[in-house]
Amino acid sequence: MSELFSWKDDYATGCEIIDNQHKKLFDIINELFTAFEGAFAESQVPRILKELEEYTIYHFSTEERLFVEKNYPLKDQHKQEHDHFIQKIRKFKLDLESGQNNLLAFDVMITLKDWLIGHILGSDHKYIPYLCKN
Ligand SMILES: [Fe+2]
Ligand SMILES: [Fe+2]
Repeated sequence: MSELFSWKDDYATGCEIIDNQHKKLFDIINELFTAFEGAFAESQVPRILKELEEYTIYHFSTEERLFVEKNYPLKDQHKQEHDHFIQKIRKFKLDLESGQNNLLAFDVMITLKDWLIGHILGSDHKYIPYLCKN
């Protein structure tokens, strides 16, 4: 199994609930990569993509709930990034359903992965002093 997305300690926020959710997102994306390469991509990719969409929404809602609880000053712009990412996933799903070839879809998937790493290291890490330290 190829694993393009491996957890690094640099990604940690120190909030256990958040780090566990990020790890789970990594697992789902790795599952997606593996499915793309496998013989049953057509039957598995839509299911995993749905799981990615649902789990991403769940994870973002966890962060956004903490933003409100802790009165995080950058919450509005952070939520905008979340909304934008959910749109990206939905567009990717639609493109796949409308029969875009898998090679292009693979590129888009790498874009999703890169976005997620960039978001964790950039925007998520900005909330550490507000959310993840006492
Ligand atoms: Fe996050
Ligand atoms: Fe976030």
